[in-house]
Amino acid sequence: MKLLAFSASNSQHSINRALVTYAASQSNSDDVEVLDLNDFEMAIYSIDRENNSGIPEQAKLLFDKIGQADAILISFAEYNGSFTSAYKNIFDWTSRIDQKVFQNKPVLMLATSPGPGGAANVLDSAVTSAPYFAAEVVGSLSIPSFYQNFDLEKNKFMNDDLNERLLALVNKLEC
Ligand SMILES: Cc1cc2nc3c(=O)[nH]c(=O)nc-3n(C[C@H](O)[C@H](O)[C@H](O)COP(=O)(O)O)c2cc1C
Repeated sequence: MKLLAFSASNSQHSINRALVTYAASQSNSDDVEVLDLNDFEMAIYSIDRENNSGIPEQAKLLFDKIGQADAILISFAEYNGSFTSAYKNIFDWTSRIDQKVFQNKPVLMLATSPGPGGAANVLDSAVTSAPYFAAEVVGSLSIPSFYQNFDLEKNKFMNDDLNERLLALVNKLEC
């Protein structure tokens, strides 16, 4: 199984990247690629830019990477209750290639934040809108209070219940 994973954040120290990288490492896939959104940075989407210059190569590259994957793992960072502008911009450009951005792939959607809300708002938005973008969501999980539940140095959960729930979902991705 070719597993494509990324954090929907452009932070160099993204806790969502730590989470998604850990989750990917728990899968049986021998072909995992963890993307960095910084490699897909584009000018802010505008219809005028699109009309004048077309769709940037970075968006085409991401669309192709999704198309070549067997399964997708995303962890969403939440800014002001919604997607980070970095992710939203990349998503908007990519959706101009085809609204079916996720191309009917199985997708596991995670989210985390340092606070007790665990980025649940953005996760809810992503799950609710998934059918419009042809994402076959196999499950979703918000991890609250990341630093209290995950040991970044040891790269493991301190909270066994959350760890088990995550592993069960990663397992569903492989079915
Ligand atoms: C502009 C901004 C807005 C934020 N808004 C929220 C929010 O609405 N909910 C939340 O749980 N955390 C919020 N945070 C804190 C983020 O969850 C925190 O920065 C987290 O580390 C982002 O994930 P990342 O490390 O994967 O980039 C916000 C942070 C910033 C910089």
